[in-house]
Amino acid sequence: MLTTRFCDTFGVEHPIVQGGMQWVGRAELVSAVAEAGALGFLTALTQPTPEALAAEIARCRELTDKPFGVNLTILPSINPPPYDEYRRAIIESGVKVVETAGFNPEAHLPEFRAHGVKVLHKCTSVRHAVKAERIGVDGVSIDGFECAGHPGEDDIPGLVLIPAAARRLTVPVVASGGFTDGRGLVAALALGADGISMGTRFLCTVEAPVHRRVKEQIVAHSELDTELIFRPLRNTARVASNSVSRKVVDILREGGEFPDVRDLVTGARGRKVFEDGDLDAGIWSAGLAQGLIDDIPTVGDLVRRIVAEAGELITGRLAAACRRP
Ligand SMILES: Cc1cc2nc3c(=O)[nH]c(=O)nc-3n(C[C@H](O)[C@H](O)[C@H](O)COP(=O)(O)O)c2cc1C
Repeated sequence: MLTTRFCDTFGVEHPIVQGGMQWVGRAELVSAVAEAGALGFLTALTQPTPEALAAEIARCRELTDKPFGVNLTILPSINPPPYDEYRRAIIESGVKVVETAGFNPEAHLPEFRAHGVKVLHKCTSVRHAVKAERIGVDGVSIDGFECAGHPGEDDIPGLVLIPAAARRLTVPVVASGGFTDGRGLVAALALGADGISMGTRFLCTVEAPVHRRVKEQIVAHSELDTELIFRPLRNTARVASNSVSRKVVDILREGGEFPDVRDLVTGARGRKVFEDGDLDAGIWSAGLAQGLIDDIPTVGDLVRRIVAEAGELITGRLAAACRRP
């Protein structure tokens, strides 16, 4: 048993989070994470409408009676999704934990707070973490440069970013980006975090609702097999290396602009990768963690293994190192 104040604040057994994942954070995965005693997040925008999100929450409840949350990724966009209606669907469905990401969640906090919903805000810099605490979030999840998805533009890996943030915050801190196992959990705790969040590792589990070829590709990939796309646009995203992501990097490096890559990076293409297992259909998020992933376990086995390995490390190798004369 390994428990931290993160577990007390967010009402879960283990200090392990499955971060929101577009097209992946569905009831099959999230209910398995909940059953394993960790905190899983359905991804709101994977559902086409707020009504569909309410139905997905209900479907997840049929699969587990343990707590789970919803990720609300707030992206600046010309035609934004109806965020207020997604928020209402979350509240009316009785979900008590939300992971916000992408943008300042301030506009949503009063409603969430009024309904007793805890907010874990995910960000990629100390300044945004400090701001999130100031506006009243209940916990902060910090993505280091290693992470899948959007690492921000500061390029600070977790080894420095996590302790730099932890020493400035009083709310529970979750370390995210590059975590896959018990060693990572112990390292995160040592750096001042209260838990870990994982994306790529949970993507490569039996219950993740994606084609098996995607999982096999993660196992085959090393830590070298990611691309940072959209760098010149200052909207960096870390994705799996494939013919499409390499082409996007090349076009932008040679002076191309977003319209020149728009068709390559559509969500519909990325979705095809996950649904059909066509690994070169589009871009798909994956992090440096790929280099530490060698198998496709069930979520239950994965969480049990991480907790057991962390406990053995602390009471075994690390305790023994302290006893050395
Ligand atoms: C396939 C995939 C899709 C993701 N989609 C989202 C998303 O929609 N919103 C979000 O906040 N984070 C998203 N993320 C980021 C994860 O929640 C998490 O922060 C990140 O994966 C942590 O890094 P790791 O992959 O090294 O564990 C995604 C990650 C992956 C792998």
